Amino acid sequence: MSEKVTFLDKTFVKYIPSSEIDAAIAKVAAEINEDYKNDDPILLITLNGAIVFAVDLMKYLDISCRISCVKVSSYCGTESTGKINSLIGLNEDVRGKRILILEDIVDTGATYGHLYQMLMEAGAKDIRMATMTMKPDAYKGTLPVHYVGLRIPNKFVVGRGLDYDGYGRNLNDIYQVVDS
Ligand code: IMP
Repeated sequence: MSEKVTFLDKTFVKYIPSSEIDAAIAKVAAEINEDYKNDDPILLITLNGAIVFAVDLMKYLDISCRISCVKVSSYCGTESTGKINSLIGLNEDVRGKRILILEDIVDTGATYGHLYQMLMEAGAKDIRMATMTMKPDAYKGTLPVHYVGLRIPNKFVVGRGLDYDGYGRNLNDIYQVVDS
C-alpha cells in the first residue's frame, strides 16, 4: 500500500505499519486470554469501526466467548459531535454477564460512557473495554480503559476499520491526516 492516500478533501500519510498493529493486537489478546480464562464473556462489537479489530483479535483468542453487536455514531467528518446516536441497539440478554466492549478507537470516551451506562442498566455483571487504539490526550472519561493496543496522539487517523466519512476502513496500515 502507498505511503499516502487521499479521501475526499483530506490526505493521510502512513503512520503505523500493519506489523506493529498485529503485534499490539496479539498482546491485547494474550491479556484477555489470561483475564477471562475462567469466564464466558460476550464480546460487544461496536459497528462499524470495530469490525476489523474484532476479527483480528478473535484470531488470537482461545477463551470460551460469544459475540454481539451494537451500532453507534458520534463522529461527523473528523470531529466528535459529543452526541451519541444509537443506530442498532442491544439485542442480547446481558444480565449477570461479563461484557467486553470492543472499539477501534477511544477518543473522548463519550461512546464508551454511553455503552457502559446502557449495559449497566441492562444488568451486566462486569463491563470492560478493549480498544485497538486510544488517544489519551483527548480522553475526558473517568472509566478505566482496560486493554489498549496502541496509544496515539490526538490527530485524526484512518485504516484498520477507522474511517473518514466511510472511507479508509479497508487499509491494513494506519494513516494519519496531513494538516492542511
Ligand atoms: P469517542 O466517543 O469520542 O471516544 O469516539 C469514538 C468514536 O469516534 C470511534 O468509535 C470512531 O468511530 C470515532 N473516532 C474517533 N477518533 C477517530 C479517528 O481518529 N479516526 C476515525 N474515527 C475516529
